[in-house]
Amino acid sequence: MDAATGPHTPDDARAGSGRHRVALVFGGRSDEHAISCATAASVLRALDRERYAVVPVGITREGHWVLVDDDPEALDIRDGRLPQVEDTGRQVIVPLGGVEHEWAWKDGEGQVHPLGEVDVVFPLLHGPFGEDGTIQGLLELADLRYVGCGVLASAAMMDKHVMKVLFASVGLPVGPYTVITDLQWQRDRAAALARAQALTFPVFVKPARAGSSVGVVKVDRPEDLEVAVDKARNHDPKVLVEQGITGREVECGVLGGRGTEPPRVSECGEITVSGHDFYDFEAKYLDEANVQITAPADLPDEVREEIRRIATAAFEVADAEGLARVDVFVAPDGSVVLNEINTMPGFTPYSMYPQAWAASGLSYPELVDELITLALERPLGLR
Ligand SMILES: Nc1ncnc2c1ncn2[C@@H]1O[C@H](COP(=O)(O)OP(=O)(O)O)[C@@H](O)[C@H]1O
Ligand SMILES: [Mg+2]
Repeated sequence: MDAATGPHTPDDARAGSGRHRVALVFGGRSDEHAISCATAASVLRALDRERYAVVPVGITREGHWVLVDDDPEALDIRDGRLPQVEDTGRQVIVPLGGVEHEWAWKDGEGQVHPLGEVDVVFPLLHGPFGEDGTIQGLLELADLRYVGCGVLASAAMMDKHVMKVLFASVGLPVGPYTVITDLQWQRDRAAALARAQALTFPVFVKPARAGSSVGVVKVDRPEDLEVAVDKARNHDPKVLVEQGITGREVECGVLGGRGTEPPRVSECGEITVSGHDFYDFEAKYLDEANVQITAPADLPDEVREEIRRIATAAFEVADAEGLARVDVFVAPDGSVVLNEINTMPGFTPYSMYPQAWAASGLSYPELVDELITLALERPLGLR
């Protein structure tokens, strides 16, 4: 089959239209595979096809890169059904830079079909093997421009422990916590549990490198700690135990500045969850009726400004680029505790990051456009 005429030809495989070619990369090996697919569906719908030609690249749960159809419907979360990237057998070959810049795909018979060059990659991946600097490293090696944070920021912010160490280093307000590494758990479980039990309960036990609340357990009683740590360890051998913070959950979006401009911070948005103990996986993706996003959040001016200051500082100490969402707790007395920063935040139109920007006057398609523009403007190599 000729790649230029076959049914699987991605939008504008033939060069010369003057449009920027964007490879959307989604799915992936992490527990957040399905969420990434849902995000891809939204971005596929939002991309202005007058300006961008799209190459949709799915990564299966096993880690195979495949060319998929430009079909948002197939990637939506619908009626509680979680989407996934199916192995289409059309293996994507990413050029590794140097003299090779043409993308291609290989069929089941081993025949290679050209896909042309790609101007920018939009990694819509959440979690390990995507949001953690691994794909960013591949793209750096390949001399490809891409949306979002670089290797270091992605890796450091994926690890909730390293993230807190960096935040604390510039005086950002981080709550009390302890880390349980795999070695500590294997060598002296009692000592690890004792450290965690010294915190005030309830505590939150979580995998160090996950997201979407996967593996996060709220623990009310010290005797339930061990089971929770084991549960978190199913997702990551490195675990954090954090003291529970009583407060409202407020998040805001940060967008890299153009050129030498400083980062831009959106309005704050608030998440209110009912019927769930906390903002867990089900609440996030399967029970949206019980989750309310309010943007802009109803906050006193000084609290709003403090959150925005913290968000900028967190973005800067993380060495973040492109985009990030900064999540905080606002205690009843108005004090703010920084929970985390996400370098590839949930990105459907209903997600907080786009909602917070919509409340700040930037629509979803405009946001997608701005992110790609920032990536296209960014120089290759060390920045
Ligand atoms: N220290 C904490 N105090 C209170 N609630 C917490 C705490 N840590 C996590 N949570 C709750 O668990 C949710 C998920 O935890 P989070 O650290 O944000 O992990 P993820 O990266 O999976 O989103 C938070 O949105 C919040 O509802
Ligand atoms: Mg979170």
